[in-house]
Amino acid sequence: MLALSLPNSKSNGNGAHRKVRAEIVGWGMCAPRRVMTNDELAAMLDTSDEWIRGRTGIARRHIVSDGETTASMAIAAAQDALQVADADPREIDLVIVATSTPDHVFPSTACQVQDALAARHAGAFDLNAACSGFVYALAMGHQAIASGEHQQVLVIGADALSSRLDWTDRGTCILFGDGAGAVLLRATDADAGVMATVLGADGSGGELLKIPAGGCAVPTTHESVTQGLHYLRMDGRLVYRFASGVLAEAAEQVAHKAGWEVSAIDRLIPHQANVRIIESAAKRLGLPMERFVVNLEEYGNTSAASVPIALCEAIEAGTIRPGDQLVMVGFGAGLTWAAAAVKWRRSPEEVYVSRQRRWWRWSLYQWAHLRSGVRRGLGRLAIWFIRTVEGRDDR
Ligand code: COA
Repeated sequence: MLALSLPNSKSNGNGAHRKVRAEIVGWGMCAPRRVMTNDELAAMLDTSDEWIRGRTGIARRHIVSDGETTASMAIAAAQDALQVADADPREIDLVIVATSTPDHVFPSTACQVQDALAARHAGAFDLNAACSGFVYALAMGHQAIASGEHQQVLVIGADALSSRLDWTDRGTCILFGDGAGAVLLRATDADAGVMATVLGADGSGGELLKIPAGGCAVPTTHESVTQGLHYLRMDGRLVYRFASGVLAEAAEQVAHKAGWEVSAIDRLIPHQANVRIIESAAKRLGLPMERFVVNLEEYGNTSAASVPIALCEAIEAGTIRPGDQLVMVGFGAGLTWAAAAVKWRRSPEEVYVSRQRRWWRWSLYQWAHLRSGVRRGLGRLAIWFIRTVEGRDDR
């Protein structure tokens, strides 16, 4: 366990207790190498770069290829976050992966990440709240720490929605891209970190954004595949209306819960669905667009990965500075929405990791890979031995 061991509140010497909060101490992201431009889409579909840019703000998106998956992107983003925090993976208590496109129904993507990082003392689970997933997971991680139960929680948003897109449907496939973003949360009793969260859902809007098949209601069959029921379907206009309202409302609610005026939000990091949705929320909130982090031109909508990727890029670009009051907002299928108010403390200039520590963590990941392979091999050997050599079947 981490040497720092905080109860959920701490005396400040005057008998008053300070709250334990979750602070973001590490961040990382991963975008697939393959970039797909609007012009490439225009060569396949009845659309144009002008239409897509004008209606959405998107110019490119990154799409998985050559063995890249949700898990591989999540692992890469997580390794970056641990590097920035200079953390020991064996001291992570919990891994939460927000995704609606896991590599498998089970094992969870979080278990794949836990194994690859050698995070052997961590619990691990996936969380599905679609595009709101990362902010939901951030809220869960924060609560696990604030309760005193955990000291370090790794929160990842990762999705490869390209695997669920109908590439002949110009109303949906132009919007999405793949990627992953991760943060490491650590307990702190400083006046920093996650100050408030808001979670919301409205299941009555489930039909607006849905992948009909692949669950137990409509299992994957030859027929479901022929009918394209395993592809994402969306009522773009109604989702647009929902998103424009909820982005501003959730930001306002979480700011008030944190005790901030809306005008005191230094940076708002919204889910990157459509620049027009963000502009409309900016107008409703009375905030200038310069306060919003927007990177959807490069990535499109990466679902659960969009908020942490935008966060990482803003930190690295120096547009988030120590002392800034941040609000992150996710919204999406479910329908769901979530917001978090975060007081920022770290600057990228503070991040220094020695070569030895980098090398040590790299070796740990190689060891984890080897150990996992050996354990899987031994498992298969044991089954073969029981069935073949002993001639019995324990099933
Ligand atoms: N290229 C060219 N034309 C297109 C097109 C495309 N990619 N997609 C749709 N069109 C056409 C439509 O067929 C329609 O043509 P018509 O008038 O001849 O019927 C016209 O453009 C307008 O369609 P509409 O759906 O009203 O466009 P829009 O302005 O609402 O933009 C979206 C469509 C999808 C960009 C927009 O509704 C949106 O962003 N919605 C929210 C989606 C979202 O964020 N989802 C994820 C939430 S997590």
